[in-house]
Amino acid sequence: MGDDKKLNEYVWKYAEQYTIKPWLKGYGNCIQDNPEYWNQPDVLLTDTTKATVEQAKQDPMAGWMGWEPSGMVDRIENLCRKYRVPSDARVLELGCGGGRQVFAWRAFSISRGLRLKLYGIDHAEGAIKVAQTRMPDVAFFCVGADDASRLNQIFTLGDFPVGFDIIYTLTCLQHNSAHKLRQIFQNVNWLLKEGGLFWLVNELTIDSEDYIGVHHPQVKMAPWVTDERGSHGTAAWWIGFIADNGFELLSYEKSSYVFRRI
Ligand SMILES: C[S@@+](CC[C@H](N)C(=O)[O-])C[C@H]1O[C@@H](n2cnc3c(N)ncnc32)[C@H](O)[C@@H]1O
Repeated sequence: MGDDKKLNEYVWKYAEQYTIKPWLKGYGNCIQDNPEYWNQPDVLLTDTTKATVEQAKQDPMAGWMGWEPSGMVDRIENLCRKYRVPSDARVLELGCGGGRQVFAWRAFSISRGLRLKLYGIDHAEGAIKVAQTRMPDVAFFCVGADDASRLNQIFTLGDFPVGFDIIYTLTCLQHNSAHKLRQIFQNVNWLLKEGGLFWLVNELTIDSEDYIGVHHPQVKMAPWVTDERGSHGTAAWWIGFIADNGFELLSYEKSSYVFRRI
């Protein structure tokens, strides 16, 4: 009882900083919701792509800043083995930036003799230009993951059919406010095949170990805490939110979640 009281005190204290809610009560916008934020020359260079088109033309690995794709290739391999992903699977990244993760998927596909069909979308035009320069053989599109009507034009009416085997996203979704996330999860649902996988990796989840030291550790105890714009929530928040849009959770470890479309 005493502990509950203490927890409640913490929760209400931190409610000023974080909003305690079942999802979608707050519709606050944030500057990062705007594609133009990601397309600014300095943000492109520091975050979105970490290289210019000219640099990527000279060297596809420009801007990798010491980041090696091999760790990602191992994670991709584990995922594909565990969930028996077909060798010709169609794989889409949401928020691909300059294409670092697509590069790892492509390295995986080529080195294992697979025929994966890779696609990447990002709402920052500058990012898509760099990604396309790095990988001319991959289909990249400038479109928001929340933009149902443009996605529908590209993937239903165009040359690229809907029905992906895997949609993944890495350090992207936590930059979207909850009202956008809801639209994104609905889009992922119709873009995926029935039974297709949705693999989400966030930089940080409020209850991941990494968060301790950044924010107060007690925050992790309240399952529905999110930040003030209704994104970047706890693991329970992400899982509940995504499951509510037609997915079942297959695995969760730290900030990495695998769902199946149901
Ligand atoms: C931190 S960068 C990560 C890029 C890439 N995933 C990587 O690991 O290198 C986040 C990217 O997500 C993109 N992004 C964020 N929200 C998006 C949305 N709703 N639709 C499309 N792209 C989005 C941004 O433009 C940016 O390129």
